[in-house]
This record gives sequence, structure tokens and C-alpha cells, in this order.
Amino acid sequence: MTTPLRSAKGHPYARIMGVAGYRPDRVVTNAEVCERIDSTDEWIQERSGIVERRYAAPDQTVCDLAFLAAERALQAAGVSATEIGTVIVATVTHPYPTPSAAAEIAYRLGTNNAAAFDISAACAGFCYGLALAQDLIRGGSAEHVLVIGVEKLTDWIDLDDRSTGFIFADGAGAAVVGPSEEPAIGPVVWGSDGEQYDAITMTQSLIDYRDNGGERFPTLSMQGQQVFRWAVAHMAKTAAESLEAAGVSADDLDAFIPHQANMRITDAMVRALKLPDHVPVARDIATTGNTSAASIPIAMDHMLSTGEVPHGGLALLIGFGAGLAYASQVVRLP
Ligand code: UT7
Repeated sequence: MTTPLRSAKGHPYARIMGVAGYRPDRVVTNAEVCERIDSTDEWIQERSGIVERRYAAPDQTVCDLAFLAAERALQAAGVSATEIGTVIVATVTHPYPTPSAAAEIAYRLGTNNAAAFDISAACAGFCYGLALAQDLIRGGSAEHVLVIGVEKLTDWIDLDDRSTGFIFADGAGAAVVGPSEEPAIGPVVWGSDGEQYDAITMTQSLIDYRDNGGERFPTLSMQGQQVFRWAVAHMAKTAAESLEAAGVSADDLDAFIPHQANMRITDAMVRALKLPDHVPVARDIATTGNTSAASIPIAMDHMLSTGEVPHGGLALLIGFGAGLAYASQVVRLP
């Protein structure tokens, strides 16, 4: 007779207990960006909605940015670092393939040797992390999970490239996810369209950079129009599917918090979803720029701390970007 295995026993549901964003101090205006690219303040505002963005200090690392957001999220949640069982960091700008940013952050926060790993899902990374966190808690692998979206994109973009130099920025956002008696994170609707893997990619690999004699450090390259068209054509549908999966309608929402990619993409999704006028929409890109995996938690924190959306309200999230990867879910705000 074989010995039966014990299985982990999780909680029925999970919820976001606290969220926080960290925006670096240095404000960079469109005028400053236009010192390096052939563009204008008017063009940037009209095409992207960006008025200004934040850049990290040269000596601030991805882990430094993440740590500041994580500390604040723990405080907002009323959870101590030692209660965190898993740290998930969504990032594409941590400069080490290994070890993970998550392991360093777990240590610096003073967790009790929490499990720690990074995920690479670009601008969809925070929503991917949230989906994993809820499954870890429901599956019994963790009690509290810290999900961080963080990017220092200024290390990986060419500030002289006018197709990317004005849009991307630096920042971090973090959420503490813990057990709940009621459903508070809806089913994730997610996927990837790998046929378009080169729509957002790097100019070359680090191996090629080494083997080519170290010429032209790899930087982000983006087929902006291709990604724009894909997002407008498909992302509202994905968001609508996640509303349906959660059993709520657009009218029930207290907030719509899409990835802050471009104000015109947000506007197109609002129209396609027929979002009622009473639902506040995150428009954080105007002053934060596109911070990839960090944009949703930064915007969420901003909307909650300014009182624009109520604590406990329902928010529709959707992240999308390189891969092309996407993920959407409805959450109850902390
Ligand atoms: O976060 C991850 C996912 N990323 C996204 O979702 C980004 C999606 N893409 C976008 O947001 C937009 O494509 C951009 C904001 C990046 C670009 O806006 P666009 O309206 O798609 O511009 P475009 O590339 O179609 O270029 C339109 C015109 C072109 O000139 P002509 O051919 O019409 O004469 C470009 O040469 O604008 C010109 N242009 C610029 N002009 C001034 C392109 N970049 C610039 C610039 N400043 N920086």
C-alpha cells in the first residue's frame, strides 16, 4: 500500500490588503526630452498624453526603487515583512539575469527567508503577479504574497531614439496580497501573442553585444504603431472578458486602471467598453510616463490616496505589452 501524500490547504480566496507606489524625485519635462530627440511638447502630449515623467537617480537601482514601494505597501497593509511568504517581482529592467531582484528585496525587507522570484511579462507583469499571488494563497503555498512591479527603463532605452525616448520612465509599485473570506480578485483573463514577439524587443542580445565588440549597448525597440493597433483592437475585448468572468458589469465599477501605455489607448478602451461617465479612469501617464510593470500599482495608489476612488471599491485592471503579453482581472481595492 502506498503512503498517501498530504496536500497543502489554502484559503478560499485572496485579496489585495495594501498598495503603494514610488515615483522617483526627478521630474523630466517634455522640453528636456526634446533636447535629445527631434520632437515637440505639443506632439508628445497629443500622441501620448505625457506632460512629464520621473527618472530615477543614476545610482538608484531597480531593487532600491522596489524596496521603497514595498516598505510602504507593507505599512498600508498592516503586515510585517516576516509574514510575507513569497516575493514576486515583475520587471524587465533588473540588470542581472541571476540572482533575482526578488531575493535581494526579500532579504532587505527582513522577510523570514521568503520564497522569491522574478517574472518577465513586461507591462502585463503586475497583473500576472497578482494572478500568481492569488493562486499561491488559494493553493496553500503562501499566506501573504508581496507583488512588486518595478522598472528603471532609463537604463535600457536610447534617450536619443524618438520612437521610445519620450514615452518610458522609471518607478515602482507594490501590493500585499493575503487571505480573504470573500472573492476579492476575479479570475484572470490572460495570454500572449508570440507571433508579435518582435513588436517590442531589444536591439540585440547581451551575448551579441559582447561578441560584436561591445558596440551599441542593447536598448528597447518598439514598433509603436503596430503595438498601438493591437492594443486598441484586442485589449478592450480582453477587459470585457474579465468583467464577465468576475460576474460584474462596467456600471458596477468604481475605477478603471489600465496599464499606462498611452492616453489614446486608454481613451479607445473606455469607448469600446462603454464605460459609464461615473467610473474614474487612471490617467497617471500624464505625470508618470509609461513605467511598464509599475504603472498599474502606481496609478492605483494615486487614485486611492487622492480619494478619487473609494477603498473597497471595484477596479478593472488590464496590463499589456512586450510578448505581446496581456492579463486582466477585476479586483476589490484595499
Ligand atoms: O507599454 C508597452 C506597450 N506600448 C504601447 O502600448 C505603446 C503603443 N504605441 C504608442 O503609444 C504610439 O505608437 C507612440 C506614442 C509610440 C507613437 O505615436 P504614433 O501616433 O503611433 O506615431 P507614429 O509612429 O505613427 O508616427 C506618426 C508621425 C510620423 O511622421 P509622418 O510619417 O506622419 O510624417 C513619425 O515620423 O509622427 C512622427 N514621429 C514623431 N514626431 C515627433 C514619430 N515619433 C515622433 C516624435 N516626435 N517623438
